[in-house]
Amino acid sequence: MLCIEAKSLSRSYGNVTVVDGIDLSVESGKIFGFLGPNGAGKTTTMKLLTTLIPPSSGSITILGIDASRHPLDVRKKIGVVLQQPSYEPTLTVEKSLEKYGMMWDVDTKSRCDRAEELLTAFDLQDIRKKKNDDISIGQRRRVQVAREFMHDMDLLFLDEPTAGLDPSARRGLLDYIKGKVRDGLTIFFTTHILEEAEYLCDEIAIINRGKIIAVDTPDELKNKFGREKTIKIRIGPMQEISGILQGVGNYEVVHDEGTVITIYSADSEQVLVKILQVLQSNNIPIEDLSVVPTSLEEIFLTVVRNSNASNISSSK
Ligand SMILES: Nc1ncnc2c1ncn2[C@@H]1O[C@H](COP(=O)(O)OP(=O)(O)O)[C@@H](O)[C@H]1O
Ligand SMILES: [Mg+2]
Repeated sequence: MLCIEAKSLSRSYGNVTVVDGIDLSVESGKIFGFLGPNGAGKTTTMKLLTTLIPPSSGSITILGIDASRHPLDVRKKIGVVLQQPSYEPTLTVEKSLEKYGMMWDVDTKSRCDRAEELLTAFDLQDIRKKKNDDISIGQRRRVQVAREFMHDMDLLFLDEPTAGLDPSARRGLLDYIKGKVRDGLTIFFTTHILEEAEYLCDEIAIINRGKIIAVDTPDELKNKFGREKTIKIRIGPMQEISGILQGVGNYEVVHDEGTVITIYSADSEQVLVKILQVLQSNNIPIEDLSVVPTSLEEIFLTVVRNSNASNISSSK
């Protein structure tokens, strides 16, 4: 079943189109990552999908409900954590959860149970009696995300939920999300942190300047855009070696404390065998060796750069 279906969705402010005819489909039980540089239109898209703002054109169906016609029905079934901080300064952490549960009409027993579970899962037990005003930005963000799990929902929208979190809190949140998805929740998740998307998402859409420029699984994105691997070999401070590297492919040699040879190749296994043979037969010992697949980050940068370039040439 499709949880989110958007067709030709657009939104303009004045005469500026910030979401420009995008199509989206997200299956239930998946984590869908929405990636893009700052200002790409991620938050605006999320506000459209969650019925917080109306589209200029296009259609949105959420959990089978027409979002333009029945926005309140949609809102009852979804959770939303916006990018903007939201908290009540004078409320304690535990009261914040409690109050959120009351807003959603969760019964007293479930409220207590859930609050306890969340205080632990989000590492908030030590600060449960502190006021929101007196805790750090990262802690507040954790409260803001945690409270959303006080109520039942079928679909959760998270707009850069890990912004401001330290690495361990970040990993904790991502793993908590993964657990919820195993239990059947569907998640629409925006981020500009590629490692996060790679760790979490089943499918990723990359948005740039209001348009979706790629949609695929993280693995497929890598297959399509990043077959090349980077081989790095460090040898001792060395004489001229370029002579012996003839024919191993595209390479760079940098001399600093040692000599680092960097080779980019889509055929890394072959190239590696060849270069190891060459180094051995010339009696050159290797100090360090690594073969790194092209990261999603490099792919993202390439895809966005290409899309910017083609926009410029098509607007001429
Ligand atoms: N209320 C608004 N009025 C005018 N422009 C807006 C408004 N909200 C967003 N924008 C513009 O729309 C573009 C996309 O913004 P946004 O969706 O917040 O991007 P992202 O979340 O990807 O960083 C930006 O250029 C932003 O300045
Ligand atoms: Mg945003």
